[in-house]
Amino acid sequence: MLAVAVPVRLRFGAHLLGIHKPLTVIPTSSSSTRCFFLFPSPPPRNVSLRQTPRDLFRRNVSQTAAPAASDSVSVSFPKDSPLFVSFLNRVWKHVVQKGDTVIDATCGNGHDTLAMLKMVADESGKGSVYGLDIQEAALQKTSSLLEDSVTPNEKGLVKLFSKCHSKMHEVLPRNTSVRLVAFNLGYLPWGDKTLTTRSDTTLKALEAAKGILMDGGLISLVVYVGHPGGWEELKTVQDFITKLPVETWICSEFQTVNRSWSPVLVFIFKRC
Ligand SMILES: C[S@@+](CC[C@H](N)C(=O)[O-])C[C@H]1O[C@@H](n2cnc3c(N)ncnc32)[C@H](O)[C@@H]1O
Repeated sequence: MLAVAVPVRLRFGAHLLGIHKPLTVIPTSSSSTRCFFLFPSPPPRNVSLRQTPRDLFRRNVSQTAAPAASDSVSVSFPKDSPLFVSFLNRVWKHVVQKGDTVIDATCGNGHDTLAMLKMVADESGKGSVYGLDIQEAALQKTSSLLEDSVTPNEKGLVKLFSKCHSKMHEVLPRNTSVRLVAFNLGYLPWGDKTLTTRSDTTLKALEAAKGILMDGGLISLVVYVGHPGGWEELKTVQDFITKLPVETWICSEFQTVNRSWSPVLVFIFKRC
């Protein structure tokens, strides 16, 4: 069982929610929009195809005590982080094109802003990255990272806003459609752990992102569940994606299932 091709321009493995093994991302191209297939490796013999990652996730989480309100458990990927980031960036790369407009909804230390800028910046000076964060400290870190990493011309393609991402549509020029909106939820690494994203504003931001996304675009989220409020935020995101009509949206989740409290990657594709 490999991919199922459906007669739309964004084609996707219909069995995606049953994937347990790493994915091979294989690009295809169409006239104006790049699309891709995701092929799962065959499942190992001791894994039942009836189990979904969500089943495994539930089992995984239920075996672990919830973090106390004042506590937060390790939420990063100390060993598999490069793999995780590389997977996320590869998915973005298959959607984003030079000259596109994209949004980093949670700038933080600026690593995602930088990665997105590299994907959209073209030699003629087209391409735009709009970055938002509610913390000035985060915007300053993002600005310094860009200063150190890109040319002044490239940096000129990034516009940073001290604003809640639920208002992302307000920072865009009129009638702008965006190819990618990326969220990296939770708190600023090495910053104030009490200043995290929140379910209510994340939900409003998802609605805003949905309204400005172009056909063939992507909303991606990294949802950390190991801090107070993180689990509730994941539930909010899951509730949002499961209600989206499949005729227009293809939604999937990925998680390392043999490690407690690992972040959940959520992809929301708008069909071409
Ligand atoms: C996990 S960090 C983001 C990491 C970042 N993407 C990077 O590459 O370093 C989450 C960020 O979201 C920001 N944030 C929290 N609530 C927000 C909101 N309502 N709107 C925009 N940003 C928010 C936090 O200030 C924090 O900097």
